[in-house]
Amino acid sequence: MKLLDIYAKMKRDLDAIENQLAHSVTSDHELLTETSTHLLKAGGKRLRPVFVLLAGKFGDYRLDVLQRVAVPLELIHMASLVHDDVIDNADTRRGQLTVKSKWDNRIAMYTGDYIYGKALTIATGLGNPLIHQILSKAMVQMCIGEMEQIRDFFNTEQTIRNYMLRIRRKTALLIAVSCQLGAIAAGAEQSVCSKLYRFGYNIGMSFQIRDDLLDLLGTEKQIGKPPGSDIRQGNITLPVLLALRETGIRDRLLAEIGKIRESDGGGDTKAAIKLIRSSVGIAFADDLAARFMHKAIDALDGLPNISAKKHLIDIAHFVAKRNY
Ligand code: IPE
Ligand code: IPE
Ligand code: MG
Ligand code: MG
Repeated sequence: MKLLDIYAKMKRDLDAIENQLAHSVTSDHELLTETSTHLLKAGGKRLRPVFVLLAGKFGDYRLDVLQRVAVPLELIHMASLVHDDVIDNADTRRGQLTVKSKWDNRIAMYTGDYIYGKALTIATGLGNPLIHQILSKAMVQMCIGEMEQIRDFFNTEQTIRNYMLRIRRKTALLIAVSCQLGAIAAGAEQSVCSKLYRFGYNIGMSFQIRDDLLDLLGTEKQIGKPPGSDIRQGNITLPVLLALRETGIRDRLLAEIGKIRESDGGGDTKAAIKLIRSSVGIAFADDLAARFMHKAIDALDGLPNISAKKHLIDIAHFVAKRNY
C-alpha cells in the first residue's frame, strides 16, 4: 500500500494528533505560539506519530494514551529541527522559511526550548517514569549527535563508523523510540516492544542515509530546501566519504571541499556535487539504505500478521527509496 493510502486509513487518529499538536504549542505567549505554529503549519510527514500509532496496534490500542506519546515525539522532532536550522544556517525547511530566518537565531533557540518543554508537559500526563526516561535519553542522544556533527564539520578523514554512530544518535534513536514507546504505551509484551525498537532503529538509519542522498540528488521542490546544503555547511555525509575513497575522484573532491570551506558558506557546490554524483558512493549508500530497510523488516519476524505490520513494511520500503 502507498504511504498516502496508509495515512488515509489512519486519518481520524492522525487528525486528532494534529489538533493536539496545534493545541500543545498554543499558549498566552503570542510570539512563541506564532513561531512554533509556523513550523507546525509548514507540514512535514509526521512519520514519528505514524510509527507510534502503528506500534500501538500490537497492544491495547487507546488513542487517548497513544497521543500522549505521539505528540511529544513529533514535538521533540520539531524542536530539534528548529535548533538544527540554526546550526546548519538553513533558510528553508518544509518549503517555508525557517524560524531562524523568518525571525532570528535567538528566537529560534527559545522556540526550540519552548517546544521541548511542551513535549515533556504532555508526556508527564501519562505518569509513567519509564516513558519519560526513554524520551529524555533520546533527547540527550540527539543532542550529542548534533554536537558530534559540528565537531566533524569539514573533517574529510572521519571514518564511516563515525558517520554511522552520528546518524544513529541524531536520527535513528528517536525513530526507534517512537516504535518502542507506541508498543509500551499500549502495554505490549516486552519482546514485542524490542522487536519494534529494532525495526525503528534500522528504519531510522535507512531514513538518514536516504536524507543525505536526497541532499545530493533531490530538487529543491522535492526536499523543501536547496540541495547541497550539507556539503555547503561542511556536513560530510556517507556518499561523500565513499566518493573520497575513489582514487580517480579523491584529490579533485578534496580540492572542491577545501574551496567550499574557505568560502564560509557562500561557495559554489556544483563541482563537488557533480564529482560525488559520478562516484560509486551514490550506489553504495543507496545499497546500504536498502540493507538497513531489510534488517528493519526482518526485525518484525514473529509479530502477529495484523494490518499494522503490513503498513510498517510498506513504510520501510518508502523510507529506503523516498524522494521527499
Ligand atoms: C528531517 O526529518 C530531519 C531528519 C531526521 C533527517 P523528516 O524528513 O522526518 O522531517 P519532516 O518532519 O517530514 O519535515
Ligand atoms: C537531522 O539532520 C536533524 C536532526 C536529527 C536534529 P539534518 O541536518 O540532516 O536534517 P535536515 O536535512 O536539515 O532536515
Ligand atoms: Mg539540517
Ligand atoms: Mg543538521
